[in-house]
Amino acid sequence: MHLKAFLTFVGLLSPALAQRIVPGAYIAEIKGTNSNGFLSKARTQGIKVRHRMTLNQETSIFNGVSFDLEDDTPENRAKINSWGEVVELSPVRLYDAAAPVAKQVSRDVAKVISKRAGGPLDAYPPHVQGGVDRLHAEGLSGKGIKIAVIDTGIDYNHPSLGGKFGPGNKVAFGTDLVGDRYTGSNTPVPDADPVDCAGHGTHVAGIIAAVDKDFIGVAPEVTLGAYKVFGCPSISVGNDVLISAFLQAQADGADLITASIGGPSGWTEDPWAKVVTRIVDAGTPCSIAAGNEGAEGLFYASGAADAIGAIGIGSVNNINSPVVLTAAKYSAGATKDKEFGYTPGTGSFGTQTYELYIPVVDGQVTDACAGLPADAGDLKDKMVVIRRGTCTFESKAAAAAAKGAKNVMLVNNVPGAVDVTVTAPGVSVGMVTPETGAEWLKLVSEKQTISVSFDKDAAGIITAVPNPLSGGTMSVFSSWGPTNEMYQRPHISAPGGNILSTYPLAFGGYAVLSGTSMATPYVAGVIGLYLQKAKAEGRKVTPAELRVGLATTGKPLVFNDGTKNATYLAPVAQQGGGMVDAYKFLHSKTSVDTELLEFNDTQHFRASMSFKITNNGDKQATYKLTDISGATAYTTKEGSTLAQAFPPTMLESYANVQIVPNVLNIKPGQSKRVVVRVTPPAGLDSARIPVYGGWINIASNGVDRLKIPYMGVATAMKKATVTNFEEGFPVLVNYKGEDAPANSTIGSRPVLAWGLVLGSAAVRVDVVSVSNPEANDVPVFTDNTIGSLPGYPNYWTPRTASGENNAVAFTGRIVKKEGDPSIRVPAGTYKLVYRALKMTGRKHSGRDYERWESPNFVWSA
Ligand SMILES: *[C@@H]1O[C@H](CO)[C@@H](O)[C@H](O)[C@H]1NC(C)=O
Ligand SMILES: *[C@@H]1O[C@H](CO)[C@@H](O)[C@H](O)[C@H]1NC(C)=O
Ligand SMILES: *[C@@H]1O[C@H](CO)[C@@H](O)[C@H](O)[C@H]1NC(C)=O
Repeated sequence: MHLKAFLTFVGLLSPALAQRIVPGAYIAEIKGTNSNGFLSKARTQGIKVRHRMTLNQETSIFNGVSFDLEDDTPENRAKINSWGEVVELSPVRLYDAAAPVAKQVSRDVAKVISKRAGGPLDAYPPHVQGGVDRLHAEGLSGKGIKIAVIDTGIDYNHPSLGGKFGPGNKVAFGTDLVGDRYTGSNTPVPDADPVDCAGHGTHVAGIIAAVDKDFIGVAPEVTLGAYKVFGCPSISVGNDVLISAFLQAQADGADLITASIGGPSGWTEDPWAKVVTRIVDAGTPCSIAAGNEGAEGLFYASGAADAIGAIGIGSVNNINSPVVLTAAKYSAGATKDKEFGYTPGTGSFGTQTYELYIPVVDGQVTDACAGLPADAGDLKDKMVVIRRGTCTFESKAAAAAAKGAKNVMLVNNVPGAVDVTVTAPGVSVGMVTPETGAEWLKLVSEKQTISVSFDKDAAGIITAVPNPLSGGTMSVFSSWGPTNEMYQRPHISAPGGNILSTYPLAFGGYAVLSGTSMATPYVAGVIGLYLQKAKAEGRKVTPAELRVGLATTGKPLVFNDGTKNATYLAPVAQQGGGMVDAYKFLHSKTSVDTELLEFNDTQHFRASMSFKITNNGDKQATYKLTDISGATAYTTKEGSTLAQAFPPTMLESYANVQIVPNVLNIKPGQSKRVVVRVTPPAGLDSARIPVYGGWINIASNGVDRLKIPYMGVATAMKKATVTNFEEGFPVLVNYKGEDAPANSTIGSRPVLAWGLVLGSAAVRVDVVSVSNPEANDVPVFTDNTIGSLPGYPNYWTPRTASGENNAVAFTGRIVKKEGDPSIRVPAGTYKLVYRALKMTGRKHSGRDYERWESPNFVWSA
C-alpha cells in the first residue's frame, strides 16, 4: 500500500484535504433573500459566519453567498440546510491553474523578439498550424469583441498588452477578486486592480491579443477583461471565487469567457460547472482547458471543462519548439566572440571566461557515463563539455566533480535545450543545443582551443527548433475523456505545447509555456475572430453554434506517444475533433446540428443517432458520408482494474458504422437528416474498458467539409470495478498507519483509506456495532448500521490519482441520517462498511454498489 502518501493524510486526518475542500467554507445557493439577509439570519440564530463572497450580479443566473462557518458542525450545517431560502449548501472546492508543464523565461524582451523575427509575422508556426494566418490576411482581428480572461490577472503594463488598464485600452475591464495574498484556503480580499503578479494570465492574454513589433496574438484587436482569481504565488482557487468571476464577467457583457483552470472531476454536478452551464444557456460561450492530466490515462476529465455546454480544449504541440536561451560567446582561432545560447541550470557561470575541456570518444563528445578520461588533469578552472544521454545528469556531474570540475556544459542529444538541476556540491551546469555541440566538436577535432565567456546579466535569445518527435500531434499531458457520464472532452484541440507569449515585465517579458492553458486562449482568440465576422454579417451567434463549428471543422491527428507518430489516428477520447482549423471554422458553407455523437456504453447504448446537415451555400451540393476510425484504447492495465498511465494500449479494432443515407443532395438553404448506427468493435477484452471512436466525414465535390467526432465505450460500465481493491486498499489502519490484522483491537482513532479506480457518484462509509447488535437501527441496504461517518456519503468523487488515496478517521462520532447532527457512540467493538456506487448505477439500489467491510476494532470512547 502507498503508506507514504497515506501518512501525509493521517497527520492531518482530514477527508477535506483528500477532497480538495476548504475546511469550514461553504457556498449557499439562496432564493428570496440576498447575502446580507442570509448572513443576518445565521447570526440571529446564533450561528457564527464570516462572509467570503456575494455570488450574484443582479442577474438571474445564480444567487448565492459563500461564508466560513466558525463552528463547522453537522448541527449548524443541518440548521442552515433546513431554511427555505437555501436551495443548496455545498463545500468550497479548490481548483488549480492548469499548471504550466515547462517554462523558460527570457530576460530581455527586445532581444527575444528581434530574434524571433525573420519572416512575416504570421509565419508564426502556431498561427499557420491552426489557419489563423489566413484569417489575419482577410483583415480579421477580433475588433469589437470582448473576451473575459479568468486567471492570475494580466500585466497590462506590458507594452504588448496596451501599457494601461481601463476603458479604451486593450485590457479594458475586469477586477481582482482575491488580492495578492490569496492561497485558495484563506479569505479573498478583493481590490479593483487585476494586475498579474504570477505570470500565467499574462501568458494567456498574449496568446489571445498581444501586439508587438514581431509578435501578435490570435485576435490582436479584441478587448480583454482581466478577472484575477489567484494570489501570487498562485496556488489554487475556490469555486466560490470562480463562480463570482464568471458571474461578473457575464454581467460585464463579455462576448466570451475563457478559463485555463481546472481539476479532476468528470461530473457535471459541481456548483462551478452548474453556473457555467447556466451562463452558456443564457447565451455567453465559455471555453475551458481540458486539463493537464494526460499521464493518468482515460476517464480523467477535468472540471469545469466537463460542464454541459462548455467548450473543452485539448493541447497540440507546436511544430516548432521556441527555446529561450541565455546569450554567451565563444572564441577559437579565427572565430572571435561568436554568440551562442545555453540554458542555465543549477548554479551560475558568473561573468567569466573559461577554456572548454571536450573529451571525444569514438568521434563524439563523451557521455561521461564511465567517468572522464584518466588524463583529464585538474579541471578546476575549466568548463567540461559532456553529451546528454545513457546515464543521469547527476552521474555526469559527479564524473566532472571527481576531476575537480566546477562548471559543466551539457550538449543536448535531442533538439533544443532544457534546464538541468544537479546536486553535486559546487557544480554549476548549463546545456547547449546539439548544433552548438557540433560546432565545438568540429573545432576540437581541428585541434583548436575554445574559450567561452559568460555575462551574468546576459539577455535571453530565442531559437525555434523544429520538433520532429511530436510536433503537430496531441501533447502527452493533455487530459483524456470521456467524463464519468460518457460525455466526450475535449471537443477540440489547439497549439498548447511549447508556446511563446507575453510574461509579466518583472519576470522578463516573454516566456515559453506548455499546457491546455495555452491551447484554450488560442481557441478563445479564434472565437473572437468568428464573432467579429458574424457581427459584421449582422448575425447573432449561440454557444452551440461555436461548439458544433469548432468540433466538426477540426483535423484529426495521428497518435504520438511523445517520441514518434503512429500509423493510426489518435482516439477521439484524447483529441475530440482534433486540431482546430480556424479558417474552415469561419468559412464552412455546410453545418450540422451536433458537435459529437456519444453512443454511451453497451448497456445504455444509443443504437442509432441522427443529425442534420444544412447547406448554407448558394449552390446545390452532393454530400458523400464516410466513416474514419480513430484508434480504440483500453482504459485499464491487463489483468487489473487500475487505470493505465499514458500511453494506454491502443488497438486498431474499429466500430462498424452504418450511415443512412451516405449520399445526399441538398439544395441551398435546406437541411436533410442522416442516421448513424454503430456496432462497437468486437473481440475486445471488455474488462479493460475499451473506448472506441472516429469521425463521420462529410465531403462534397471531393473536398472534406466537416467531420463529426463520435465515441462510445465497448463494455457495460456498471460491471466495471470502481473501488481500488488492489494496492492494499481499502484498508483500516491505526494512527501510526500500521495495517490492522482482521478481528484485532487497533486502538484509538482508526483510519480508513480508500481509493477509486473509476469515478463514483456516491461513496458511503457506515458504522456497525459488533458488540451491541441491537443498536444497529439504521438499515443501509443489506446491513444494519448505527449510522454513517460524518461527511459521508461523498458525492461525485473523481477517480483517485495514481499513487494517492482518500483517508478518513473514525473519531467516535456518527450521523444517523444525512444532514443530522453528529452524535457520540458508546465504547464497544465496531466495524466500518464501505460502499461505492458503480458507474451508471442507481443511488437507491444496493446491488449497484461495491461493498467492503473492515475488520472489527475496539473503540474505548
Ligand atoms: C506527425 O504527425 C503530425 C500530425 O499528423 C504531423 O504534423 C507531423 O509532421 C508528423 N511528424 C512526422 C515526423 O512525420
Ligand atoms: C449514458 O448513460 C447514463 C445512464 O443512463 C447517463 O446517465 C448518461 O448521461 C449517458 N451519457 C450520454 C453521453 O448520453
Ligand atoms: C473474524 O470474525 C468473524 C466473526 O467472528 C469470523 O466470521 C471471521 O472468520 C474472522 N476472521 C478472521 C480472519 O479471523
